[in-house]
Amino acid sequence: MPDTGFAPAVRVATQPIFERLKRVVPEAEWLFHAPLIARINALKESRNAVILAHNYQTPEIFHGVADIVGDSLALARQATECDAEVIVLAGVHFMAETAKLLNPDKTVLIPDLGAGCSLASSITGADVRALRRRYPGVPVVSYVNTSVEVKAETDVCCTSSNALGIVEALGVPRVIFLPDEYLAKHVARQTEVEIIPWHGHCEVHERFTGAEIEGFRRGFAGLAVLAHPECPPDVLDAADYVGSTQQMIDYVEERRPARVLLVTECSMSDNVAAAHPDIEFVRPCNLCPHMKRITLGNILTALETLRPAVEIAPELAEPARRAVARMLELSR
Ligand code: 13P
Ligand code: SF4
Repeated sequence: MPDTGFAPAVRVATQPIFERLKRVVPEAEWLFHAPLIARINALKESRNAVILAHNYQTPEIFHGVADIVGDSLALARQATECDAEVIVLAGVHFMAETAKLLNPDKTVLIPDLGAGCSLASSITGADVRALRRRYPGVPVVSYVNTSVEVKAETDVCCTSSNALGIVEALGVPRVIFLPDEYLAKHVARQTEVEIIPWHGHCEVHERFTGAEIEGFRRGFAGLAVLAHPECPPDVLDAADYVGSTQQMIDYVEERRPARVLLVTECSMSDNVAAAHPDIEFVRPCNLCPHMKRITLGNILTALETLRPAVEIAPELAEPARRAVARMLELSR
């Protein structure tokens, strides 16, 4: 057997975590994860660091080293409330940028700078300026899944959990809503406000189809289908509930359906299944390749070296921060 550093002290320190994860993480993998988890948790204290992890992080990160977990809105909120000197964002780059915007004086680390997002890369600041010229005076609402450059051209940000409320809170007859076309359509169906969309898609959620969901329903009696609003409209039509990643978790925890299909990134089912062994999760597996760039190994390296740190161009920081802060204000 290879020497993974799985010493008796590591076994003892990490056993409670493994008890929770043993249904979703094979023991052979745990031998490699446990020593890293023990080192990360020790180093966090000496660095005065906190790890914020998105719901799509793998179970060994989500349950093993994260201090705070949640959807994009929860991570943004929590970033304003933590007093650690160092924030490690186990998620994608726009999430780390958001944390840095809200904490300009803290060190914000993203363990892999290449952890992008197909939505964030679907639109540039120049595209937003062109939209504003085309629709003068119409406010711009941007999903947080955007770059700082786009946020700096934005009136107010939103996430999948507050998009409708933010659009309606502006009290205007129409808004430019970007970059997710499907989230824009989902909001447009629920409001009188005219929505001018962009054509960005999430490369993970756009792969689901309504026919696939109907197939799962036929195969698994009594299935509760919960879908993320980044999915295409036919998928949302086939779902019992549509919500952000955290709203889906809350639904499962409050209503406790016996059998669930989470139509979203596949690590989330593992994370929720680990916490709720009595619920059966049916798992189509669409992975987000960007989220999966974050590993225990590069989290440890980030904590050891305090790199890579997120830096934001000073001329973009203030207008982008305003758009995020306005969202937090409007969605209290
Ligand atoms: P949530 O804010 O719902 O967690 O969504 C973030 C995301 O990237 C979904 O793909
Ligand atoms: Fe972006 Fe989609 Fe990955 Fe979420 S799942 S980070 S929207 S590519």
